[in-house]
Amino acid sequence: MRISVIGQGGREHALVRALHGNELFAWPGSDAIFELARPFPACDLAALPAVMKKMRIELCIVGPEAYLDKGLADRCRAKGIPVLGPSQKDARLETDKVFAKRFMARHRIPAAPYKIITDVEDIKAPCVLKFSRLAGGKGTCVCRTILEARRFAQKAMVEKVFGDGQLIAESLLTGRELSVICTIAEGEYHILPPARDYKPLRDGDRGPNTGGMGTVASRDLEKNSMADIEALIIRPTVAALRHYRGFLYFGLMLTPDGPQVLEYNCRMGDPEAQAMFPLIKGSLAEYFRQAAEGFINRELVRFSPGWTVCVTAAAGKYPQGIAESLFIQGLEKISGDIMIYHAGSRRAANGKWRTNGGRIIGLTAKSADLATAREHAYAALQYIQFKGMQFRTDIGKLHF
Ligand code: AMP
Ligand code: GLY
Repeated sequence: MRISVIGQGGREHALVRALHGNELFAWPGSDAIFELARPFPACDLAALPAVMKKMRIELCIVGPEAYLDKGLADRCRAKGIPVLGPSQKDARLETDKVFAKRFMARHRIPAAPYKIITDVEDIKAPCVLKFSRLAGGKGTCVCRTILEARRFAQKAMVEKVFGDGQLIAESLLTGRELSVICTIAEGEYHILPPARDYKPLRDGDRGPNTGGMGTVASRDLEKNSMADIEALIIRPTVAALRHYRGFLYFGLMLTPDGPQVLEYNCRMGDPEAQAMFPLIKGSLAEYFRQAAEGFINRELVRFSPGWTVCVTAAAGKYPQGIAESLFIQGLEKISGDIMIYHAGSRRAANGKWRTNGGRIIGLTAKSADLATAREHAYAALQYIQFKGMQFRTDIGKLHF
């Protein structure tokens, strides 16, 4: 099958690896992705659907939300290209948090109570402040003190560092987080193996929020909560989204009062994908293509038993900054049963890998049990070195 994968991070590297054996194309891609996929002739986002059509692409999978927000899926569909990714309108579940909060209230989907902030004096701590529009992963602040809250509100509302949008304050929920990602088509859903993402930069869930410093996935993860999650959250959400096609990511908090939605994302997670895809076997390309065409065909895939752990090596300045062109040592020493996912790297002229981003490399290990998967992932991580490298040591340990 001729498939195009849109994006350039670790999630898209995991996608092309999972779809290996097909005729793969990528845009904008990365050096690691282009080891498995071909580039399109030079083109920009506006020209991409026409180029894909000309190159007889049979399935397009969109990774990052920003392209969905720009209407890429709508423009592919208008050209008759099957695309796994929602329309710009349906992507509002992620790209407009006020829209998402109203959607949840309307459909009685459990979530933290909220209000829209128009006056900074109305903010009470503790709370979680969220900028309503896309903010490159920096739009949420868990505020334990009023000082923290005022500082974030000042940045968002007065300095407008994220651009135009609204500010929401919601109650602080406590519990274990879980990412449940489904494939959705025309009111049908298929729940993929759930994952746990570790968003704060440092051990013990301390430090600033990041895109994700590591993940665990297993079809057994939080097994006892899945029936509630499906009945209270997934089913009513999907029933309200009549023509959605693509992945839908439910960011959940398992609170003492039951599961609650923290956020919806209209795409596969990153680095959830790096832990989930190694557990999904079968005819993945055909499964995705049928979903893009409106059919969920569960028979085409199966979920392996066992656990995966993905640990991320990030740049010294991440999440504030990136690392450019530092030599990455040790990749060649990693054994073949560890999956190496490139999130932010490039190949230098001499063939050596160098850093080129915030999150640089993700390593995934798979095993029958969580402790062994964790041990193997961290044993492999010991080989990787670049100046300033940061990683967490408690992925797969904290919250278990
Ligand atoms: P979001 O920007 O909505 O994806 O949230 C990013 C992270 O902030 C989540 O993964 C949680 O760790 C945290 N978070 C968001 N909303 C809440 C909430 N209401 N209570 C506690 N933590 C939250
Ligand atoms: N890992 C969090 C996300 O993909 O949004």
